[in-house]
Amino acid sequence: MKRETVFKLSLTAVSSLLLTACMQTSSDAGTDSAQTDAQQAAKIWPKLDIAVKPSEQVEQRVEFLLAEMTLEQKIAQMIQPEIRDVTVEEMRQYGFGSYLNGGGAFPNDNKHASAQDWVDLAEKMYQASIDDSLDGSTIPTMWGTDAVHGHNNVIGATLFPHNIGLGAANNPQLIEDIAHATAKEVLATGIDWVFAPTVAVVRDDRWGRTYESYSEDPTIVRAYSAAIVSGLQGKPGDNFLDEKHVVSTVKHFVGDGGTVGGDDQGDNVSTEQELFDIHAQGYVGGLTAGSQSVMASFNSWHGDKIHGNKYLLTTVLKDTMGFDGFVVGDWNGHGQIKGCSNESCPQAINAGLDIFMAPTQSWKPLFKNTLAQVKSGEIPMSRIDDAVRRILRVKVRAGLFEKPSPKQRALAADTSLIGHPEHRAIARQAVRESLVLLKNNNKTLPLKPQQHILVAGDAAHNIGKQSGGWTITWQGTGNNNNDFPGGTSIYDGLKQQVEAIGGSVELNVDGEFSQRPDVAVVVFGEEPYAEGNGDLDNLEYQRANKRDLALLRKLKDQGIPVVSVFITGRPLWTNPEINASDAFVVAWLPGSEGVGVADVLVADKAGKAKFNFDGRLSFSWPRDPNQATVNFGDEEYNPLFPYGYGLTYESSEQVPVLDETIAQDTNEEMRLVLMDRAVNAPFKLSIGSSNQQTVMNSSVVTNDSVYVRTTDRFVQEDARLVKFTSDKPGRVAIGQAFPSDLLSLVEQEATLNVDLQLGQSIKKGQVLVGMDCAEECSVDLAEHLDTKSTQWQSVSFSLGCFKANKAEYGKVFEPFVMTGSGDVTVSFSKVSIGSQPDNKQIQCN
Ligand code: BGC
Ligand code: BGC
Repeated sequence: MKRETVFKLSLTAVSSLLLTACMQTSSDAGTDSAQTDAQQAAKIWPKLDIAVKPSEQVEQRVEFLLAEMTLEQKIAQMIQPEIRDVTVEEMRQYGFGSYLNGGGAFPNDNKHASAQDWVDLAEKMYQASIDDSLDGSTIPTMWGTDAVHGHNNVIGATLFPHNIGLGAANNPQLIEDIAHATAKEVLATGIDWVFAPTVAVVRDDRWGRTYESYSEDPTIVRAYSAAIVSGLQGKPGDNFLDEKHVVSTVKHFVGDGGTVGGDDQGDNVSTEQELFDIHAQGYVGGLTAGSQSVMASFNSWHGDKIHGNKYLLTTVLKDTMGFDGFVVGDWNGHGQIKGCSNESCPQAINAGLDIFMAPTQSWKPLFKNTLAQVKSGEIPMSRIDDAVRRILRVKVRAGLFEKPSPKQRALAADTSLIGHPEHRAIARQAVRESLVLLKNNNKTLPLKPQQHILVAGDAAHNIGKQSGGWTITWQGTGNNNNDFPGGTSIYDGLKQQVEAIGGSVELNVDGEFSQRPDVAVVVFGEEPYAEGNGDLDNLEYQRANKRDLALLRKLKDQGIPVVSVFITGRPLWTNPEINASDAFVVAWLPGSEGVGVADVLVADKAGKAKFNFDGRLSFSWPRDPNQATVNFGDEEYNPLFPYGYGLTYESSEQVPVLDETIAQDTNEEMRLVLMDRAVNAPFKLSIGSSNQQTVMNSSVVTNDSVYVRTTDRFVQEDARLVKFTSDKPGRVAIGQAFPSDLLSLVEQEATLNVDLQLGQSIKKGQVLVGMDCAEECSVDLAEHLDTKSTQWQSVSFSLGCFKANKAEYGKVFEPFVMTGSGDVTVSFSKVSIGSQPDNKQIQCN
C-alpha cells in the first residue's frame, strides 16, 4: 500500500529519478505495483508492430524442447563463455547455449587464422554442443561475434566505414547492402550471430564510442537500425534467417549514448520520455524489423545499472514493446550491478537478462551459483523457463535445428566471400558517400590532371589507422598494412588515380619532397581506440601536441596548397588545422577501402570530378573544445558547422579564417577524485607491478612485499594503511584499465593532493610517490615530509614532479602510485588531483 502512494506522488512530481527508485522497489512487489509499472510504461513506450509474428508451430516446438530439459541444461543455455576461456571439451560437458569471441579473439589465439580455422572451431564447438554424451543435450550452440564494421576480427575481411561515416552517407539502402555483405562474410566463417547494430544516439562526443553511432539524430538511427537488421537477418516472410542471413543484436539497451560527460559505461540521467524519444529510437526501428536479440547496456539510468533494471528490461522492452527474442548481457556487465559480482548475479536474471555474457573464467562459478540460486528459490523457475523459451525461440526461428553443421553450410565452404570484390565495391561506395567536405576555398579540389601531388601525414598509408578501433584487435592498434590483404590505403588510391590522369605522386609522412608539389594532400587524425579508452575530457584535437598542425603550416608557409583528409571517430575542434588547410575533408574511419577517398578527390582526364561529395554531417561540428554536447534540435544551437552541413563541388562558399582562441571555462575548477573515504570507481586500488596486479576487493590485500588494509581516520575505513615488508620494493597504486586524460588539469596547474601519515621516521629513497611509473617519475617522501612526525600531513605535489613531457598527461593509467621498501608503514587518505591551497605545496624542478 505504501508503495502505491509513493508511486502516485512520483507521477505528479514528474521526476524520473523518483520514478526509477520506486520502480526498483516495485520489481519484487506484488501485482499491484507491477500493474502500475505497466501503466506507466504504456504512457511512453509503444507496442511495436514487430515483423516476426508469433507462430504456434514455433511455440509448440519450444515447449516440447523445454519440457525435456534439466535445470543444468537450461542454465547452460543462459551462459555465454568466450573462446579464450572455454574449451571444446567444456562445451561438450556443459552444452552452452552460445559462446562469443571478444574483440581481438581468434581461433587458436592466432591473429592470422584463416577462414577455414574459424569454420573448424565453429564445427568443433557445434559438434560438442549436440553431443549428449556428457550433458544429455543435443541443442545446437550459437556463436556470436562483433562484426561491427564488416567481419572485423577476421584477416582479409571487407572493412566498411565505421557507423559515424555511414551516418554521414545517410543512405539506408546502402546500409542494408553493407549488412548483407557482412552477414555473408560472417557465415563464411561458420558463425551464426552478430552483435550489431549499435544504435547509440550519441549526445556527448567526448564518449569513446562516438564512432559506433550513426548520428546524434534519432531519425537516422531508427531508419538505419531497421535497414541493418533486414540486411543481416533478411526479411520476414521472404528470406528471413535463411542460409544467407545471421541473427542480429540491437545494442546497447538503453541510453548508452547519453551518459553524463560522455563517460563510457556511465550514468544517463535523461527523463523516461527522453530515453524513448532520443535513445530508444534504434529499438523502434530494429525490433520492428524483427531483430531477435537485444544487448543490455553497461550504463546506468539514474544510478542503476541497466543490467539489473527490471522496469526497463522486462516491463518496457518485453512486456510493453512486445519483444519476444532474448536479452544478452554485455561483457561481465552483470558484475557491475550493486550486490553482484562477475561470478554471481541473480538480480540480473530476475530483472530480465536472459543470457549472461561471461568471459574470463567467471562462467564457472557463475554456473554453479546460478544453479544454487534457482534451487534456493532466489531465482524463480518461471524466470528461467521464460529465458530459455526466448533462447530456443530464436534458435528455432534461425533454423539452427535443421541447418547442417557449420562446415557443411552453404556459405561456410566459400572462403572467397571473405573480402569478396562485390563487398569491397559496396565498401568503396560507402567511403565515397561518407566523405564530408568542410572547406574547399578557391576550389582546391578536385585534384586536377598533370599535377605533382605530395601525399603526407601518418594516416596516408596506414590502413590500420584509417580503420580505427574494432579492427582485427579490440583497440585497433598493433596492425600494419600487411594485416589487410586486398585492402587499400588512402595513398594507394591517390597514386592509382592521379597517375591515371597524367600526374605523379610522392609519399612522405613528414611532408618533405624531392620535387616541389602543386598540391599537398595531408592525411592525419586520431589514433585507433575502442570503448572507454577513447573517452576525452574535451574535443580539442591533439591537445598539447599540435604535431599535425605543424606539418600543415610547414607546407602552407611554403605556398603549397594544402588538402587535409581528417581521419576521426568524432567531430573534433580543429579550427587551427582548418585554417592551415585550403580544403578540409572529413573521412571519418573509412576502413579497408581507402581507394574510395581518391574516387571523390581526384578529377577525371578532363579535370572534372568523377563523384560529388554526398556526405553531410550527422553530428554537429564544435565551435570550441567544450562544445561536446551541442546537438541538432537544441534550443540554443550554435555549432561551427551544423548538422546536415557539407559542401559539394557546386558550392562556391569560402570558409573564413576561424577563431583559434580557446574559451576558458573559468568558473569551473576541474578535479579528479581518486579516493575520498572509498576509492572512487572506476578507479581501483591494487598492489603488485603494473602488469601483475591484485586488486584490493576486501579490507586486506597482501603479497610478498606489501600489505594493505583499510583503517579509520575520521570515519570507518576512510584511510589505507600500507606496510612495506621487504627489501624488494612493494607497490600500491590507484588506477583503472582505461587511461585518464589529465591535460586540462595540467593546464589549470592542478596538484596531486594526498594526506599521509608515517608510522615511523623514514629514510631517503625509502618511500616514493609517482604517477604511472614509480622510480623515474616520482617524488621521494623523505625529502618533503616532516620525517620525524607521526601526525597526518596534507601535501600537494605540483604535476611537474611526475612527468617531464606534458603531453604524457593525456593518458595516465595510474594517477597515484606509492612504492616503498624496508620495514616501513605509511597510511594515506583523500587522494585527488585539483587544487588544495591549504595543503603544504611541493614544487619540483
Ligand atoms: C574484449 C572485447 C571486450 C572488452 C571489454 C576485451 O578483452 O576482447 O571484446 O569488449 O574486453 O572490456
Ligand atoms: C562491448 C560490446 C561487445 C562485447 C563483446 C563489450 O565490451 O560493449 O559492444 O559486443 O564487448 O565483445
